[in-house]
Amino acid sequence: MFWLSPAHAQTFMPTAASDIAGDVDNLYSFLLISSFISCVILIGGMIYFVYKYRRKSPNDKTPRITHNNFLEFLWSFIPLVIFMVIFAWGWKVYHDMRSMPENGLEIHVTGKQWAWEIQYKSGVTTSNEVVVPIDTDVKLIMTSRDVLHSFYVPSFRIKQDVIPGRYTTLWFNSNKLGEFHIFCTEYCGTSHSGMIGKLRVVTREDYDKWLEQESKFSTLPIAERGAKLFQNKACASCHSVVDSSVRVGPALYQKFGKQQITSAGEVTVDEEYLRESILNPNAKIVKGFNPNIMPSFQGQLNEAELLAIIEYIKGLK
Ligand code: CUA
Repeated sequence: MFWLSPAHAQTFMPTAASDIAGDVDNLYSFLLISSFISCVILIGGMIYFVYKYRRKSPNDKTPRITHNNFLEFLWSFIPLVIFMVIFAWGWKVYHDMRSMPENGLEIHVTGKQWAWEIQYKSGVTTSNEVVVPIDTDVKLIMTSRDVLHSFYVPSFRIKQDVIPGRYTTLWFNSNKLGEFHIFCTEYCGTSHSGMIGKLRVVTREDYDKWLEQESKFSTLPIAERGAKLFQNKACASCHSVVDSSVRVGPALYQKFGKQQITSAGEVTVDEEYLRESILNPNAKIVKGFNPNIMPSFQGQLNEAELLAIIEYIKGLK
């Protein structure tokens, strides 16, 4: 379609970067253009007839016309054909979207308030970042840890609800290198609008390199492992580590060893307090913050991981 050509795509639609995107855009353009033409015919015809058949003299009589079989057939049959075409076309595109590839690269996605956790088969985990090789069928197997979320990549024209207690799937094959937005499109609480990720499409070689680099994680020094975990668990979306700015939760920058006023009185920010706050966030809420905002990480971090994160927070000076 003329104004949806790739050269102008940015102005009207997000970059089309998956195989299915072109199909979606074509159908969408057809809907838009046929709606526009129908609108012109209908409203234009109305205005024209209002003018043409206006009352010209006080003696004008309305002729008695009961019906016109031919006209009535036309205005029923032509729209019916158009609607059936749209139905068949839409069904085809939807069917292609929902037919999962047999041998696709499978990636697990878990939505949580308010981040995307990504898990690869090799054990590599990331947060808010999906990296995939170009021209490859990718299948996402998704679930949620808390409430409804929705995984949406505008440039790929794909979207799917992410539901607690159930797996939903989504697939794509990207044909464009680059970085694309992931949005959550289901209102899921305070930081819903901040639940943004990126999807990076890279060459096969870069993908293998990236995967290998990420899997070296377990050999890192403990505080660096903590930093990575802090990223992966998306702690940084609520807790600042570079300054004392307040986000959804209190900043952790230069907090270790200091005194802190909490709902249970004054405490020292030590290993014990950090541990309790991660596993049972409601126990001692920092003054000025509300309970039940931070989810508990009980059962989601093992002792070694807890230690690594605490070690990282200690080093935030
Ligand atoms: Cu998750 Cu909105």
